[in-house]
Amino acid sequence: MRQSMLEAAGIQAGRIEGLWWVMFAVTTAVTAVVLGVLAWALWRGLRRDRPATSHDRRLLHYVGAASVATVAILFGLLITTILTSRALASQREQGALVVEVTAHQWWWNVEYQHPEPAQRVRTANELHLPVGRTVSIKLLANDVIHSFWVPALHGKLDAIPGHEATLWLRADRPGVYRGQCAEYCGAQHAHMAFLVIAEPPDQFERWIQAQRTTAQPPQDDREQRGLYLVQRTACVMCHTIRGTAAGGRVGPDLTHIASRQTILAGTAPRTPGNLHRLIEDPHRFKPGTRMPALGLAPEDRDAIVAYLERLK
Ligand code: CUA
Repeated sequence: MRQSMLEAAGIQAGRIEGLWWVMFAVTTAVTAVVLGVLAWALWRGLRRDRPATSHDRRLLHYVGAASVATVAILFGLLITTILTSRALASQREQGALVVEVTAHQWWWNVEYQHPEPAQRVRTANELHLPVGRTVSIKLLANDVIHSFWVPALHGKLDAIPGHEATLWLRADRPGVYRGQCAEYCGAQHAHMAFLVIAEPPDQFERWIQAQRTTAQPPQDDREQRGLYLVQRTACVMCHTIRGTAAGGRVGPDLTHIASRQTILAGTAPRTPGNLHRLIEDPHRFKPGTRMPALGLAPEDRDAIVAYLERLK
């Protein structure tokens, strides 16, 4: 999946991309002019036969003109940047969808706000957004400073403990966009990715309705054993699976983990094999994670994975 701010999929990213192209064009032109003048000067210098004095005076005029041009160009870029920032700041909306994203070591907690607490949705490392609707991302941090960055949708914004920051964005094109922590934050910096899935409003509505439901019940003995193990081991201390005894909030909500594409903040695709490996030894898979290895037998891990894969 490409992650490029030159493939803007939303109005804010479009503005930023526009500014990027203006700066690219201006700086390219300046570089071309400087190189051209340099080449010309070298060529002239090699075959100079006139006295130096009159030449030096003329040179002084050139330097003066170049200084004025430099100031004018920098001022122009400054104005363009200010205009872009103001345009970005004006893209807010009453009644926007509010999504609270909280930075953790080492994952992103995602909560869709709703006036009725029962309608709120909690998930992790994956955001679904309705295309064409303004979304207000409330950025919080628990125990780490991450920088939330989805190049296709907006610029970076830091998540800092004790500080609430807001990012307004709107996806205008359906698609799956990769986001990435954009500030060095420690052992798992490179593995602090997430997905933004922009989809048509009706599809988004179906997704959020499905997320509001409690977890699917186990369908066979193995899945039943998986649920039993989840409820009898340390899993419940950190994870929530709504509709079961698991209600921990330290780690990602697993109620609908099988509806997500990746695990461990975009570290790996969510496959039974990867889930199995994760439960076996979380630290080999994701050094620095707070998840402990539980020392379960392989068949017990299989049962848990079978149950987790049920949680669509
Ligand atoms: Cu979080 Cu880098």
